[in-house]
This record gives sequence, C-alpha cells and structure tokens, in this order.
Amino acid sequence: MDSSAARVTRRGLAGIAAGIAATGLARPALAQGAPLRVGMMLPFSGTFAALGENIATAFEMYVAEKGGRLGGRAVQIIRLDDESNPATAVQNVNRLVGRDRAEVLVGTVHSGVVMALVQASRERGIPLIIPNAGNVAATRDLCSPTVFRSSFSNWQPAYAAGLQLGRQGVKRAAWMTWDYAAGNEAGEGFREGLRQGGGEVVRELKLPFPETNFQPLLAQLPGLNVEAVGCFYAGGGAVQFVREYAAAGLKERIPLTGSGFITEGVLQAQGAAAEGMRTALHYGDGIDTPRNNAFRQAFRGRANRDADVYAVQGYDAAQILAAGLEGARGDPTAEQAFVRAVRAARIDSPRGAFTLSPSHNPVQNMYLREARGGENRVIGIAAEALADPGTGCRMS
Ligand code: PHB
Repeated sequence: MDSSAARVTRRGLAGIAAGIAATGLARPALAQGAPLRVGMMLPFSGTFAALGENIATAFEMYVAEKGGRLGGRAVQIIRLDDESNPATAVQNVNRLVGRDRAEVLVGTVHSGVVMALVQASRERGIPLIIPNAGNVAATRDLCSPTVFRSSFSNWQPAYAAGLQLGRQGVKRAAWMTWDYAAGNEAGEGFREGLRQGGGEVVRELKLPFPETNFQPLLAQLPGLNVEAVGCFYAGGGAVQFVREYAAAGLKERIPLTGSGFITEGVLQAQGAAAEGMRTALHYGDGIDTPRNNAFRQAFRGRANRDADVYAVQGYDAAQILAAGLEGARGDPTAEQAFVRAVRAARIDSPRGAFTLSPSHNPVQNMYLREARGGENRVIGIAAEALADPGTGCRMS
C-alpha cells in the first residue's frame, strides 16, 4: 500500500462519507443500479477445498435461480481463496473490503479464519453470513447484529452425537480431533451430550490442524478401555482418518462416531472403511421432501456431483442474504431493516425449514445418520430443533 492511501484514516473516511451524504449521493452504487459486490472468502485449496467449492457452487446456484438478482440488485461474487490459513486471514479480509469494496461478506469454513471476518463485520457493520465455520464465539460472546450463520455451531452436532451414545448406555469414550477451535469446541459438545446419558470422555487425543499423522494416536486407543470414540475431522483429513481407523483393526472393536462431517462429502473415498458408521448432523441423505429433492437434482445438474451439507449451507447463506436484502430494499447498509428481515425469516432449507436463534444461529434438527452404500442415510433424529445455548451473547 502506498503511504498516501495508508494515511486515509477511519476518521478521514467518515468525513468523506459525511460529505457525500450531505450532497445526497450517499448511495451512488444503488442509484446507478451497480451490482452488489459479495466478497466470498472460502478455502479453494488445501484439506477443505471441496467444502469451499460446494458452498460457492450452491450459493451461486441460488443466485442464478433468482435470475442473478437478490433484493432487486444484480449480484457480483468476488471469490477469494483463504487456504484455511489463520495467518493470512486478516490480510485477506482487508483485501475484500478494501481493494474489492465488498458490501457483504460470505465466509468461511475454518473456525480460526472466520474470526477475521467476524471482526470486520463487527467493526464496519458489513453483513456477514457464515456458511460453515462453527466457532461458537461468533454466535456467543462475539455475537453481533450483522453476523449470521447458515450452518451450525461446533457444539450442536457433537452434542447430539454424544447424547446418542449416552442413550445407548456408553459409559467411557475417547475424543479425537485436530487441536483447534472447531475440534475443541466440538469436544465440549460431545462431552456434554455424553454426560447427559451418564457417560464420560476419559481421554482426548489431538494433533495440530491439518496434520494427518494419526498412527501415534490410534495406537493409544486399545489401552484406554473405552466403548466408543467420538471425533471431529473433515474433508481430506477425514478420508484418511477413517481409512486408517479401519486399517488398524479398530472399526469392529471400538465404534467410531462424532460430528457428521467425518463422513460428509467423503464417503466414496472412504469406501468400506466407513460402512455402518453412525454420526449426527443437520443434514443427511434420503430427506424425501420436494424441497430437498429439487435442490439435489438442481445441484447435480450444475455441479455433476451430489449435494452435501456444505452445499446446503452455501445455498442457505444465499437465502439469508436474499431475505436481508429484500427487507433492506437492496441496500446492505440499511442495517436495521436488513437485520429485522433476517430475524423474521423462515429459511426454506433443503435440510428442513429453520429460523435463527436470538444469537443468529440456526435452530435445527440434528439427524442420526448411518453410512450405507455410499450414503449417509437419515435413520432418526438425535436432537430435535436444537439451538446453540448462545451463552454470553449480548446484541449491542
Ligand atoms: C470449522 O473449522 O469450524 C469446521 C471445518 C470443517 C467442518 C466443520 C467445521 O466440516
């Protein structure tokens, strides 16, 4: 950045904005019918690349279904690959809101990276819709009127998985994960759910994100005297973990469960190693509703692959944006109208319709799924209409 640009302070920008407002040109973009710039920050490389791709594809599919316009505005999507790298997150967000002048933010997958987006939204009042990252702070202590989630909190699916195990009478379980916000928060949910049923997590085994040297952790399991293992992994790492778990001869001895991301979008690659695994998630295969069937057919037509939870979350992020923009007549800076409309919306999701909790996280069923023949078949509901507790959320 050259020094003259760097010297434009927040105060300076506010002054310029006030000057424009005084001349009645506050919203030149709207006046000229310029497209709405949506900054879409997702991983398009690395272990979560397939997740980011499905989110983006389904988001774009919804926009296309609406003729390329939301809330009366043509939509221009600016994609940015965040590589699931927390170290470059702030710089990447600054690029979107600075150079690219994004008016709305959509992102991301990784719970560490998403905090840079949350901070930008809180500081600048730019609406943010989170289409995956479950970092609980985003809808608890750091909740904000302009931050919305179309996905889940890390607590939700893991809590349901633990609850399910507890109901089955499991008393001792281990928790395995990558050692970062998502894995640790999911671990808390799993522990809490299991405890409800009278069981406990007796050991946590972790390795740094996105490492896949699972062998030293797997080698410890037989000595722990546990009846089940819960886990949090996703994407490429999940493929490898499930395969190695089975190859180590553990699959039949100690049933593996957890947040359903472990088998989501990766079943083909996991093959027989995943067969029979039971997990909990807010989506699954075989939800036989006209809404879901139409969505799946359209997604397959567009992407030439099957939809999964990530596609659903991307699609619903676009639906949330549409609801806000409708209420704000296409102007995302009309904060009150935008927020009011999203809070009142009932999102017609392929997973089943949902509303947002007071802290802006979906209230939704956690399905019990079983992996069979390459599908995560829904076989029940592990927790109905589950809301994140939203602890510590005070909307300013
Ligand atoms: C997260 O980092 O919050 C995360 C990543 C991948 C998932 C789920 C959650 O599948």
